[in-house]
Amino acid sequence: MPTAVITGANRGIGLEFALRYLERGWQVHALNRGGTDALAEAEADGRLWIHRGDLSVIEDLRRMARAVREAIVSPAGPDDRGIDLLIHNAGIMGTERTRPQGRPRQGLEDFDREEWRAVLDINLLAGVELMISLRAQLAPGARIVMITSEMASNAGNDYGGWAAYRASKAAVNSVVKTFSMELADEAIIVALHPGWVRTALGGPNAPLDVETSVADMIRVIDDLGPGQSGAFIGHHGAVAPY
Ligand SMILES: NC(=O)c1ccc[n+]([C@@H]2O[C@H](COP(=O)([O-])OP(=O)(O)OC[C@H]3O[C@@H](n4cnc5c(N)ncnc54)[C@H](OP(=O)(O)O)[C@@H]3O)[C@@H](O)[C@H]2O)c1
Repeated sequence: MPTAVITGANRGIGLEFALRYLERGWQVHALNRGGTDALAEAEADGRLWIHRGDLSVIEDLRRMARAVREAIVSPAGPDDRGIDLLIHNAGIMGTERTRPQGRPRQGLEDFDREEWRAVLDINLLAGVELMISLRAQLAPGARIVMITSEMASNAGNDYGGWAAYRASKAAVNSVVKTFSMELADEAIIVALHPGWVRTALGGPNAPLDVETSVADMIRVIDDLGPGQSGAFIGHHGAVAPY
C-alpha cells in the first residue's frame, strides 16, 4: 500500500491532497497543527495518521518526524515499503499583522524581520528539515514535492509586493534543484505550484478551486519521471520560468 506524508493537511490544498490519496487507497501521514481539522473526519479504514504539532517549532517537527519514522519502520504489511510521496504543503504568505489599506505588503516601507523569518521558516526550512529527517524512510523512486508558487518566478513578477513570500518560494525552487543532484539515486524531487487557488491563503478571487488544482497536481505527480527532478513545474505539468 503506497504511503504519503503531507504537511498542512487540515485545510486548503493539503486537506484535498490527503482526501484524494486516501480515496485512492493510500496510507496518509498528515502533519497538522492543532485546531479545526476536517481531515480527522475522513473515512480512512486505519490508513490515516494525524501527527500534531507546529512545524516552525523544531521540537515539534522532530517529534512528528520520529513518529512517522517509527510507523514506517514497523510496516503494517508486506506491501509497505516506505514513503512513496512526501508533500511539503504547509505555508504562509505572511504573519497576521494587519497593514493600513493601500500600503505595500512586505515592501520597503514595512520591512519586518520577524515576519521574514517566520515565512522562510515554514515555507522553506521546515520542508528541508522534514525531508532530511525522513530521507532514510523513502521508498525506492519516491517523489518529494515541495509546494511552491508562481509568485516565486522573477520572470512573472510584474506587480511586486510580498517580497518575503516570493523569496521563500524562490528559495524552495533553488534547493529543489540543488538537492535533486544529491537525491538522484533515491528520489524525484520537484517544486510544484498549484496555480492561484481559492483557499484562505489564495483568497476568494482566485480562479481555481481546490479540487481542480489538486486533481491537476496529482496527475503531474503520477507522471513524474527522473528527467524532471529538480524542476519548477506548474499544476498543468509545464516547466515554469524562474
Ligand atoms: N492558494 C493559492 O493560491 C496558492 C498559490 C501558490 C502556492 N500556494 C501554496 O500552497 C500551500 C497551501 O496553501 P493553501 O492555499 O492551502 O493555504 P491555507 O488554506 O492557508 O493552508 C495553509 C496550511 O499550512 C498550514 N501551516 C501554516 N503554518 C504552519 C505551521 N507553522 N505548522 C504547521 N502547519 C502550518 C496551515 O495549518 P493551520 O490551519 O494550523 O494554520 C494550513 O494547513 C502553501 O505552501 C502555499 O504557499 C497556494
